[in-house]
Amino acid sequence: MIHELPSDFRWGVATSAYQIEGAVAEDGRTPSIWDTFCRVPGAIDNGDTGDVACDHYHRMPEDVALIKTLGVDTYRFSVAWPRVQPTGSGPANERGLAFYDRLVDELLGAGIDPWLTLYHWDLPQELEDAGGWPNRDTAYRFADYAELVYARLGDRVEHWTTLNEAWCSAWLGYVKGVHAPGRRDFADGVRAVHHLLLGHGLAAGRLRAAAASAGRTVDLAITHILGNSIPASDDPVDVEAARRGDALSFRMYMDPVFKGAYPEDLVADLAAIGVEIPVQDGDLAAIAEPLDTIGVNYYRSEKTTGYAEDGSTAEADGRPVTRTIDFGDRPRTHIDWEVMPDDFADLLARVGRDYPGYPIVITENGAAYDDSPDADGFVEDADRTAYLEAHLGAVVEARRRGADVRGYFAWSLMDNFEWAYGYDKRFGIVRVDYATQLRTPKRSALWLRDVIARVRRGD
Ligand code: NOJ
Repeated sequence: MIHELPSDFRWGVATSAYQIEGAVAEDGRTPSIWDTFCRVPGAIDNGDTGDVACDHYHRMPEDVALIKTLGVDTYRFSVAWPRVQPTGSGPANERGLAFYDRLVDELLGAGIDPWLTLYHWDLPQELEDAGGWPNRDTAYRFADYAELVYARLGDRVEHWTTLNEAWCSAWLGYVKGVHAPGRRDFADGVRAVHHLLLGHGLAAGRLRAAAASAGRTVDLAITHILGNSIPASDDPVDVEAARRGDALSFRMYMDPVFKGAYPEDLVADLAAIGVEIPVQDGDLAAIAEPLDTIGVNYYRSEKTTGYAEDGSTAEADGRPVTRTIDFGDRPRTHIDWEVMPDDFADLLARVGRDYPGYPIVITENGAAYDDSPDADGFVEDADRTAYLEAHLGAVVEARRRGADVRGYFAWSLMDNFEWAYGYDKRFGIVRVDYATQLRTPKRSALWLRDVIARVRRGD
């Protein structure tokens, strides 16, 4: 089935700066909200931090050589804002930029396309101290930062993604408080979404203009984490909760960017609880800056109910209950996420249908499993391999159903700092032994390499 993918299908592996780089205090980098959050007692499993991570900052050339052995044509990575513009505004930090400059050259030298993400959650702490994403000014700071990075790397990098998973930044960071900066305020979360999207649109506009004036082509994208909100039953309370969940986690992010407006039902839901999206004149046009590609990260979908465990339908603060529950009949990964490739096909078909005209690239998909290495450190990860195979099958199925999926990037190149879960949850197709920093491709990496080779050959 996978061999039905076209020979020019784009294949990649993905990482992000804070999860792999380490070297958090080197060459002028200042703390990001994640450095600060990692110091909050109990915030991260085992008290882990990104201080060393995979030490990629010092091992970058070897890591690029490793990527090359996997046979992929694309490497998705992110730039750490506090490395290249330490205070979140003002002049660039040359030593920080120089690292990405070397990375890009190393990739190009290895025949690998750089796929650069500008924001994968590491906001400079100084900007959080000034209010963070709920503060409108952060959007303007982001656009300046984007331009600064483009000025240095735009001559060699064609693929630019503004934000990675704004839902995680806003919802997990400002509403749930389980990600940095660990705040818990629903209205702040809504403000954060709007300013993230505004920052995205302004940045995309600046990049497009800079590319045009230099006579270059640029492929602009945003990456959203998407999953369907599936009603737990036919009960209208559950159906309505799934609609609310879908508005708040899917359409709130997709519609302004690709349709130029927030969903009406979302705006009404928010108004009913006295929350307003802080839209100013011109914002929606800025957010809808034309893009070239939709980046989709997929891990799972959510079964949604409108009932709390005690059967009530309203939260203490008056908001209607919108709660996700387990399907219960699906296999699970080590992070306890339920595996549901069929829904991945449905989701991609939906993106293709509801947001037509854009090529889709799967910028992340993968799974954490509790790997057991053998005496040589080799991991026979049949579970992860099966996960990748099933989800690639879903990509093929979605393409048959009309979704224009052009590429697939495995999350992740290597085991790394899995945010609030620390190092215990391993998503890599390459094992990292954190005591020695030795990298060993797992069975899944070798399998993927062979799949890529077969698809390219067309057999
Ligand atoms: C999505 C995020 O972009 C990435 O940073 C994270 O590690 C994976 N999901 C797995 O949770």
